[in-house]
Amino acid sequence: MEMKGLILSGGEGTRLRPITHTSAKQLVPVANKPILFYGIEAIRDAGITDIGIIVGDTEEEIREAVGDGSAWGIRVTYVRQEQPLGLAHAVLTAEEFLGDSPFVMYLGDNLIKEGISSLVDQFQAMQPDAMILLAHVSQPERFGVAELDGERVVRLIEKPSEPPSDLALVGVYMFKPCIFDACHAIEPSWRNELEITDALQHMIDHGCHVEPHLIDGWWKDTGHLEDLLEANRIILESLEPSCLGEVDKESSVTGRVVIEKGAEIINSTVRGPAIIGERTKLVNSFVGPFTSVYYDVLIQNSEVEHSIVMEKCVIRGLRGRMEDSLLGKNVEIYRSPQRPRAYRLMLGDNSRIGLA
Ligand code: G1P
Repeated sequence: MEMKGLILSGGEGTRLRPITHTSAKQLVPVANKPILFYGIEAIRDAGITDIGIIVGDTEEEIREAVGDGSAWGIRVTYVRQEQPLGLAHAVLTAEEFLGDSPFVMYLGDNLIKEGISSLVDQFQAMQPDAMILLAHVSQPERFGVAELDGERVVRLIEKPSEPPSDLALVGVYMFKPCIFDACHAIEPSWRNELEITDALQHMIDHGCHVEPHLIDGWWKDTGHLEDLLEANRIILESLEPSCLGEVDKESSVTGRVVIEKGAEIINSTVRGPAIIGERTKLVNSFVGPFTSVYYDVLIQNSEVEHSIVMEKCVIRGLRGRMEDSLLGKNVEIYRSPQRPRAYRLMLGDNSRIGLA
């Protein structure tokens, strides 16, 4: 039976506020591509073309970015989850779309280096009731955690305060339709969500075959700023350098740098790995390693390094170098000519500013 895909792109993104007050976390660009697109491509590359996307309050924005999926050669069905009540709740919301097909569920803020093609093949060859992916992590208490007995999963716990192992559940799961019974059977957790972790535990307790697969490449859940910056670093390091924009004679571009169409580099230095988006303009500036600057940005008389700058930002006349930062859309940072010399800010709720 043909497999379907289910991408979860609802959720509130509380760990990425204030960016997520106004936009979907799954659309934050990593190396100038929305995180969600990496997931779509991974599923498409595994040969799955019938894909449901679970959406919440940011439905409109997601629909606008992904459309009907034809840009990827896939067919997209949007499924509205009225409230973010957990991953197992999302599965139940999509019950009609999924029907009796086996499916891969992919959390829209996850990035997996090796893709999922070989995992989907393995699932289809073995035909377990569920397949989960596990990865060694340094802070297991932030994730669902698995306890194994040899090759067998015996226990799965969501965000345990005392993790029984360092094996985190990666946000990609493969299921046969028997997952629905488990999702119907469980109760909401302490965070009032129907946890997929509990549904899997329910399957294990009822004798279903839940197959664990340890992944060896890197994997990132981009829920926090630090993880986003790390994912950005890793992907920038794998880009093929190219230049579709203009670099004047006074500028210097070194290392792994992608300059997209219509970008202008004027009297500036770009040191890779870095990507400069379409129609973005750098004037008398320095863009250092591990920086992604999205489209229609202006950086003038400033230095930026190890950061993600989203579309339409303006950065002018910074005295110190900006580092380790994520700027949302349309953010403006400039040196004020006014006296007295003071910080003049207009910041959204939950903004974070680190001043030198
Ligand atoms: C979810 C799952 C968790 C898993 C993680 C992976 O956590 O509940 O088990 O380890 O995704 O990204 P959440 O992002 O909902 O906190």
